[in-house]
Amino acid sequence: MDRPFLFGTNFKMNQTAPESVRFFDELADATAPAGVQLFLIPPFTSLQAVTERKRESGVPIWVGAQNAHWEQAGAYTGEISVPMLAALDVDLVLLGHAERRAQAGESDLQIHRKVKAALSAGLRVLLCVGESAEEKAFGVGTETISRQTKIALNGLAAADASRIQIAYEPVWSIGSGGTPAEPAEIDPVAASLRAVLEERFGAPGRSIPILYGGSVDATNAGTFARLPNIDGLFVGRAAWTVDGFRRVLASSLAA
Ligand code: PGA
Repeated sequence: MDRPFLFGTNFKMNQTAPESVRFFDELADATAPAGVQLFLIPPFTSLQAVTERKRESGVPIWVGAQNAHWEQAGAYTGEISVPMLAALDVDLVLLGHAERRAQAGESDLQIHRKVKAALSAGLRVLLCVGESAEEKAFGVGTETISRQTKIALNGLAAADASRIQIAYEPVWSIGSGGTPAEPAEIDPVAASLRAVLEERFGAPGRSIPILYGGSVDATNAGTFARLPNIDGLFVGRAAWTVDGFRRVLASSLAA
């Protein structure tokens, strides 16, 4: 199966526009290893500057937005629409991150609408799914992931599959309060996610990259990256400096 290895970070609510551009420039100095697609997801306020720098430099790092609204325009104070992002030439939109689900109360249905809006504007989507600690404890983690995925991707055409990537991020493993997962417990969940994608899209579902995220760092990246059902890594804190980003990337590619 020829899936590229995807590797990137979400700055969350960190980094001003000049800081984000500096990060992009420093990262762009070194060429990405063959077969690896890098991506950066800075805050909205950095997108214009970073996408401009990407255009000027021709460096093929994907630049993504952290969220988008499902409506094209309207009375939605504080929101950003897909057409606004498309006008900036962003490469991808992150949707359904666990922090959005928990802190902004985003529902599966809202995420479904966002996915549809982003895909219909031709953008790539990085959809996050993941079970809570409680769901894991009660043995319904795979049910949660399956529900989140099926609702988010409901009704899409098989042709949409080529613009979808999924990040499996257990909620209990994300952020400074998170516990790093055992790689052995991740692969079966990713395999069940793969089965949902195949059921949904048929053969094109096999090509959708599944990334892993949650307390990934330079000490554990390789073990996650080598899992048979994992096609990339989505990193937070450990990749918020260019040095950190490079260290985690190198460790994920080490044989
Ligand atoms: P973390 O964040 O690597 O800091 O745990 C991961 C994420 O939220 O995607």
